[in-house]
Amino acid sequence: MTTVERPRVLGAGTDRVDGPQKAAGSAPYPSDVSYPGMVHAALVRSSIAAGRVVGINTSRAEAAPGVLAVITPDNAPRIERAPDTPIWRQPPPPLQRHTIVHHGQYVGVVVADTVEEATAAARLVDVAYEPTDAVLSLDDPRAITVDDPFGSNRHRGDVMGGFAAADVIFDGEYVTPDETNNPMGLFCTVAAWDGDRLTVHDATQWPDSTRAALAGAFCVPETGIRVLAPYVGGGFGAGLRVWPHTVLAAMAARMVGRPVKLTLTRPQMFTGVGHRPATVQRLRIGARNDGTLTAIEHESVQPVAVDDDNIAESVTTVSAVGYACPNVVNIDRQRRLNIPVPTSMRGPGDAQGHFALECAMDELAYQLGIDPVELRLRNYAEEHPQLGLPWSSKALRECYEVGAERFGWWDRNPTPRSMRRDGVLVGWGMAGVSFFWFQAPCDARASIDREGRAFVRSAATDIGTGTYTVMTQLSADRLGLRPDQVRMGLGDTDLPSAPPQGGSGMTASLGSAIHAASRNLIQAFLDLVADDVASPLRGLTAADVTAVDGRLQRNDDPTRGESYREILDRHDRAELSANGSSVPAKPEELGLAPAGPFAARFVEVHVDPDLDRIKVARLVSVVDAGRILNRKTARSQIVGGTVGGIGMALLEETVTDPTGRIANATFGDYLIPVNADVPDLDVVFVGEPDRFNPVGVKGVGEIGLVGVAPAIANAVFHATGRRVRSLPLTLDKLL
Ligand code: MOS
Repeated sequence: MTTVERPRVLGAGTDRVDGPQKAAGSAPYPSDVSYPGMVHAALVRSSIAAGRVVGINTSRAEAAPGVLAVITPDNAPRIERAPDTPIWRQPPPPLQRHTIVHHGQYVGVVVADTVEEATAAARLVDVAYEPTDAVLSLDDPRAITVDDPFGSNRHRGDVMGGFAAADVIFDGEYVTPDETNNPMGLFCTVAAWDGDRLTVHDATQWPDSTRAALAGAFCVPETGIRVLAPYVGGGFGAGLRVWPHTVLAAMAARMVGRPVKLTLTRPQMFTGVGHRPATVQRLRIGARNDGTLTAIEHESVQPVAVDDDNIAESVTTVSAVGYACPNVVNIDRQRRLNIPVPTSMRGPGDAQGHFALECAMDELAYQLGIDPVELRLRNYAEEHPQLGLPWSSKALRECYEVGAERFGWWDRNPTPRSMRRDGVLVGWGMAGVSFFWFQAPCDARASIDREGRAFVRSAATDIGTGTYTVMTQLSADRLGLRPDQVRMGLGDTDLPSAPPQGGSGMTASLGSAIHAASRNLIQAFLDLVADDVASPLRGLTAADVTAVDGRLQRNDDPTRGESYREILDRHDRAELSANGSSVPAKPEELGLAPAGPFAARFVEVHVDPDLDRIKVARLVSVVDAGRILNRKTARSQIVGGTVGGIGMALLEETVTDPTGRIANATFGDYLIPVNADVPDLDVVFVGEPDRFNPVGVKGVGEIGLVGVAPAIANAVFHATGRRVRSLPLTLDKLL
């Protein structure tokens, strides 16, 4: 059984510990790394979406200034497909075949002394293709269907009977487009070989996976590979997998015998590091006149690449866990298209699924003449509807109540087009969010030295989420030190192994490991004085003491204790260290359903009645993320996610042209919100520490985005009377 602490926040508004380094430019991102003799690589990409490479002429490229090597499927060394991870399959190895399966697939890599020379020479590689008809549309009958691709399809109760018992049935189709993660930092790999040993600096959310993939690809032991990712310029899911460019950087470095740097261009970021797959969803909901749900049927189809899978994108699970409906069927399907492989993007699956479910609940509320908040409260899932267990924590009711209160929701006139101010249509909409739970095994190590300073470390990354900061705070709390006495080491595979920074699970995973390591380290100090007659701590265990102000004191007599320094000095030890591991608890052992975070969102939009221009004017987010370790970084996560949600609602769409080429693969053409698109965001945290992990946290990484798009769509309906069921909500859809 895990123990739960009293609710509290650690260092409410602590600044980022890595902020000064980032502001000063001294935090080494992968693209900042340089080696003596380092050379540069540039990629050549396919200009067809399907077919074969029938000839490659590299002579002009090879003769270009500074060029050291031109690597193509004709001369690339054979490498292996990287082993699958417990969570994701790895992409097929690059340059191992002449078959083309998507536009932008790598068909060559050019290595030269400078990045300009490599880029120029890459344009001189002549590739002849034999194209075939690409399968690019979900409607294409040639597209192969994958049923239940995530193993997440469920059927509970009697869905047919539930619809038969309904007074009202809502039935609608929702469409979400492809979107591209687009972290600010262009992904970069620097690879340096020393014999069979390899050092790689990589923009990744999961260094251990990069190491395993490279070991598998090049048939060298993992112990000979070190992957460093102490700072990563954002990821949003794009860095969860080991992409072909990382493998190609290592391949190129090996071939030319020099360290190689390979940085993707922004257009290459659209084809080479995944994207959020489009969805077409059908949702049917049956309800009685009093609002009680009697049945939900949620189906989704999304694209996937022809020879590569993403396996964490269930769109319809939201309908199985969101409400207390007894009769639910949820069905995900994929169709294989000649597209770059999709991957997780912030709130994968749940972001698209909540758009459909939360819009449908709004439509149903109008059909029934019941307030949308009230409809959700009448179907509140008091226990996990699928597992039938009590939630490890759930304050969604409070999210609705606090949000409605702060927003002033109860003053709303529900009639569409009924609210106007200063010549614009005003719309109020809301959505609820029940986000998935994720946690994975994680290791950490903690040391305390004779200066009374701690060094805590793990291979986990901080992709801008605040992990350095909150783990410094947590370590300080657990070890009884000040945060400035703790140094945090992250992003290095020489450190204890860690899962991906993903699924909003890092704070629970790594936090639980640090919790364990800290406890074990305190025990190590007690072990050192176990027979020490000079120690007031003699013969005690970690449960008998409290760490505070750099010392361990007896719980039965807090005046008696001694400092870490005194213990180390007397025993002439430079430092003590301990490892700690965390493994996610099992629901059946705890008798609890693991709860992800919950949220409610309330949005005001202004719509220009002549131009149909939509402006988000106010947005209130109330989030139950369990215990909040740092209000400032947690709020930043929610704010950043909400900006992404506004982009999803109003702007973002990756457009593929009829040849399979992405037509808007630049920041000039792929629109994301700027400051003028974003109002002041009100973020409130509610809830109690969660009971599923010893730190009491739930994730705040992704829930900031989820539910924003449906709340905005619902507000746009309220403002205009126009129900738009496809994203983004561009003004042409309101005409
Ligand atoms: Mo997140 S999409 O799991 O990085």
